[in-house]
Amino acid sequence: MRNENLLFIGFMGCGKSSVARALALDLKRVFFDSDDLIELKFKLSIKEIFQKYGEDFFRKEERLLADFFAKTSNAIIASGGGFYKNANLKEIGKIIYLEADFDFLKNRLSKDELLKRPLFSDEKHARALFEERIDKYKSLAQQIINVENKSIETIKDEIKKGLI
Ligand code: S3P
Repeated sequence: MRNENLLFIGFMGCGKSSVARALALDLKRVFFDSDDLIELKFKLSIKEIFQKYGEDFFRKEERLLADFFAKTSNAIIASGGGFYKNANLKEIGKIIYLEADFDFLKNRLSKDELLKRPLFSDEKHARALFEERIDKYKSLAQQIINVENKSIETIKDEIKKGLI
């Protein structure tokens, strides 16, 4: 049987990449990370892509990936925090939202991690973006997992229970 993709969504810092990668190893599935794929394509960091080409350019690259993901199966996919905006999201697979409060996410990201994220450089702006997005993340998700103070093992177990 072909397994549907698992697509991780959620705000910056919620652990989409770490959880998706760990789960892909456990379940012996292919792992994709939308940010990593875009960085590889242009040989530039996300920050550099935003600076050089702008956000709209980056979103178009995310759209290309969304179209590609919708045609695949068996993969575990970590997406960037704004990837949820793609119109065909539900065609990609099961959507899992990793949920946490803004302050938890902010405190978890190191200075270096914050600097990598152009949309987190201004805290006020990031908080407004978070408020704007949370209801959308929730309404798109088939599984919602609160990740605050949980280990990757615990989060993986919760996801696996939802797969049965
Ligand atoms: C973004 C989140 C980032 C990255 C880009 C834009 C967003 O990914 O795609 O900086 O719009 O929330 P992470 O959620 O992996 O940090």
